[in-house]
Parts: sequence; structure tokens; C-alpha cells
Amino acid sequence: MMRIARTIAELRGFLENLSGATGFVPTMGSLHGGHASLVAASRKRDRVTVCSLFVNPRQFNDSADFRNYPRNEAADLGLLEKNGCALAFVPVADELYRGYDPPPADLGRLDRVMEGTMRKGHFQGVAYVVRRLFELVQPERAYFGEKDFQQLAVIRQLVRSEGLPVEVVGCATVRDEDGLAMSSRNVRLSADERAAAGIIYTAMVKAAERYAAGISPHEAESEGRRMIEQHALFTVEYFEFRTRDTLVRLSRPGHPGPARLFTAVQASATRLIDNLEVREQQQPATAPPGRD
Ligand code: PAJ
Repeated sequence: MMRIARTIAELRGFLENLSGATGFVPTMGSLHGGHASLVAASRKRDRVTVCSLFVNPRQFNDSADFRNYPRNEAADLGLLEKNGCALAFVPVADELYRGYDPPPADLGRLDRVMEGTMRKGHFQGVAYVVRRLFELVQPERAYFGEKDFQQLAVIRQLVRSEGLPVEVVGCATVRDEDGLAMSSRNVRLSADERAAAGIIYTAMVKAAERYAAGISPHEAESEGRRMIEQHALFTVEYFEFRTRDTLVRLSRPGHPGPARLFTAVQASATRLIDNLEVREQQQPATAPPGRD
């Protein structure tokens, strides 16, 4: 039976009685198939899987967004239990934050682009709570989704810069049938928006193909933006090719090394983010040797 800890003392008590390598899946609840895939990845490798459910006020730069964030604790606990989670930690902000006041984390400028510029302070808020949760749960491994690829990069950087004894495992994005990445925020899409939202993935795949075939990143970005904005329902905030590890914008064709395509799209009541791995560009074919 899954245990539920609501206080730090309860968490410590339960952890003492669990033996074996601990995998940790931090979440903000409103769980879906993407979260379930992280639990499954941990269940494969770790003897014990611990999940947290906590809507972290510190990572919301907009208090209305925090208030409106979907919450569904009973369903979440059911999903975790069904998926074999051993212990759910459901803290309250007062106790989790009390007396915990470390200096800002060194995020290596990864918080200066994309979501970091759109949502000031967001990644420091994420780093703050993840570090606190790691300290309390002390997992061997922690699982994060590539859905939030910039967050995954920030967590890897946090673990590196603080020397935290945790292995960070990145897991592939889980998508609905039309390609829309699963997200707790998808419930806030209108029926029309949900019906059209598959265009985001379609446009990313198309732009990634065009880029791999050799057109400039700038051109592929413009084409992708136009595809999404054909729907008057959506406004593209960014649609950008960047290096995978340092998140630096690609400026010209033929970039060597791993790259990714990142996008944020605004619908009426919610913002959707997504990203995709990009194959390296084909070098322009060299002309076959001429016969003379
Ligand atoms: P949340 O949005 O609940 O996501 C929890 C974890 O699930 C994150 O690692 C996220 O990347 C992953 N995830 C979400 N949708 C996914 C999908 N479609 N496929 C695969 N993985 C997916 O991210 C957070 O919460 C918070 O910022 C948190 C790390 C818990 C700190 O508060």
C-alpha cells in the first residue's frame, strides 16, 4: 500500500523504513500519462519510488496562474498508487519553506533564455524547491521529462554546480495521438483550441525536417511560426533552434553537434511549451567528380 506523508517528520519516518535505491519523481500534481511514464522509468530501475505533489508558489511569476493551476489530489494519489509509487510526499509551503533560505543557485545563464525571460524568477523557484526536495528525500536518482527540456537542463546544471549526489534521468515526452505533448495545463484549452493544438507538433516536425534538409534555421523558424499562426487561436512567443546543452540560438546552417527546436505558444487561457530533437544538417551534397 502506498504511504502518504504530509509533514517532513512523516516523510522521514517512512523513508527510514524503506530499503534500497530510491528513485524520485517531483511533480505539481494534476497527473497524466507523462508523469506516469516517469514513475514507470523509476520502477524499472529503483527498488523504491517516491513522488511529490506540490504546486510550488515560488516558481509562479504570476499569482493568477498559481491560483488557477489545476489541482486534483485524490485522482493524483490514485494514479500514483496504481503505478506502483511507494510513498507520496504532499507537503505544504509553510513547512517546506520554513527556515530554508539558501543563496540563489548558479544556473549558468540557462535561465536567461526562453522560459527564463518570459517568466522572471521561474527557474530560481524551480531550483529552490527541487534542491529542498532532494535534501529531504535523498534519492539516488531523480526523473524529469524532456517535455520541459530547459528545466531538465537547469536541474542538471544545479546538480553540477552544487555537487548534489543525485543522478538526473531525462525521459522522453509523452504525446497525445495528434502529437500534442501531455500537460496538466491542456485542460484549460477550449474545445476549438484543443482540436487545433496538434499543429504545434506538426509544425515542429516539419521545421526540423526542413532544417535537416539544409535550409537556414531562420527560414525554418519562420515557416514553422507561420504554420502555427495560420490558426488565429494561437500566438507564437518563440520558435527557435538552439544547441542542446547550452541553449544557444543557432544562427546559420551547418551547426555541428546536437541541437533542438523549442517553442512556446499562447492560446487564450494557457501557454503551451514543447521541444523536439533535431537531426544534424546534411552538408550540401558535394558534386560528383566530373569526367573530362
Ligand atoms: P510538472 O509540470 O508537474 O511536471 C513534473 C514532471 O513531469 C517534470 O519533470 C515534467 O517534465 C514531466 N512531464 C510533464 N509532462 C510530460 C510529458 N508529456 N512527457 C514526459 N514528461 C512530462 O515540472 C514540474 O512539475 C515542476 O517544475 C517541478 C519539477 C515538480 C518543480 O516544482
